[in-house]
Amino acid sequence: MKKRKRGTMEMGGKQSRLWIVNVISFFLFSLLSVTGLINWLLLPRGYGSGAGFLVSLRHFLISMHEWTALLFMIVIGIHIWLHWAYVKKSLDRHREER
Ligand code: HEM
Repeated sequence: MKKRKRGTMEMGGKQSRLWIVNVISFFLFSLLSVTGLINWLLLPRGYGSGAGFLVSLRHFLISMHEWTALLFMIVIGIHIWLHWAYVKKSLDRHREER
């Protein structure tokens, strides 16, 4: 199949989309690491209205961890989608070599 030459405008658009997606995924990964580690190692476990501020904070951070994880999975999905041509090319090459 003949390779289609891409214009610089199109590549520029794709490159900047990838850059934005990568920066967002790094930010979400950092937030996931911080919320996950604080919940695991620092905050007390428990539940109930009298359990105190730190337990409430832990519940808040658990929700934050879960919503951030959902966003992270969506952004990683977009990342893979933006690299889809490369993924297909690598799979085709792998099939031809077998
Ligand atoms: C797509 C990625 C992720 C998903 C779907 C995910 C999901 C979850 C869920 C459902 C829990 C249990 C409930 C909660 O505490 O919220 C949990 C706990 C935890 N996560 Fe994640 N997580 C992800 C990424 C990460 C990352 C990147 C880190 C750190 C490097 C991390 C560290 C932790 C830790 C330490 C706990 C235990 C918290 C505790 O003991 O209370 N997670 N995660």
